[in-house]
Amino acid sequence: MSLIYILNGPNLNLLGKRQPEIYGSETLEDVERDCRRVAAEHGLDIRFHQSNREYEIIDWIHEARETASGIVINPAAFTHTSVAILDALNAFDAPIIEVHISNVHRREAFRHHSYVSGVASGVIAGFGTQGYQLAIQRLAHLIRTGVK
Ligand code: DQA
Repeated sequence: MSLIYILNGPNLNLLGKRQPEIYGSETLEDVERDCRRVAAEHGLDIRFHQSNREYEIIDWIHEARETASGIVINPAAFTHTSVAILDALNAFDAPIIEVHISNVHRREAFRHHSYVSGVASGVIAGFGTQGYQLAIQRLAHLIRTGVK
C-alpha cells in the first residue's frame, strides 16, 4: 500500500472555530476522517499532521522522502513566507498537491503569492475542506500512473 503525507500548517488546528465565514465549520478532525476514508478508497495509507512550527513541517517532509509516494500540503500562512518549506519540497521526489481551503486569489494581495506552487503538481484553492479529498484523488491518479 502506498503511503501519502497530508501536512497542515499554522492555525489549522483551529479549523471550525477560526473565521468560519472563510474556512467553514468543519474541524481538522473532520478533515482527517474524510481524508482517511477517501485514501482508503484509493488504496492509500496516510500520515496526517498539523503544526504551528515551520521546522516540524520541514522534518515531516524530510521523513516523507524516505517513506511516502506523495504529499498533500496546506502550508497555511507559511505558503506566503517560507523558502525553507519550498526547499524541503524541492528535495521530495514525488508528486505534491497544494491545498487551500479558501480561494486565496479572492483575498488580500499578500495571499496571492505562494512559494509552494512552483513545486506542486497541482493547486486546489477555494473548494473548502473538500479540496483535501480532491487532492487525494488526484494524487492517487498521479501515483498510479507514475506521473509527477
Ligand atoms: C489557507 C490560506 C492562507 O492564506 C492562510 O494563511 C491560512 C489558510 C487556506 O487553507 O485557505 O491559514 O492556506
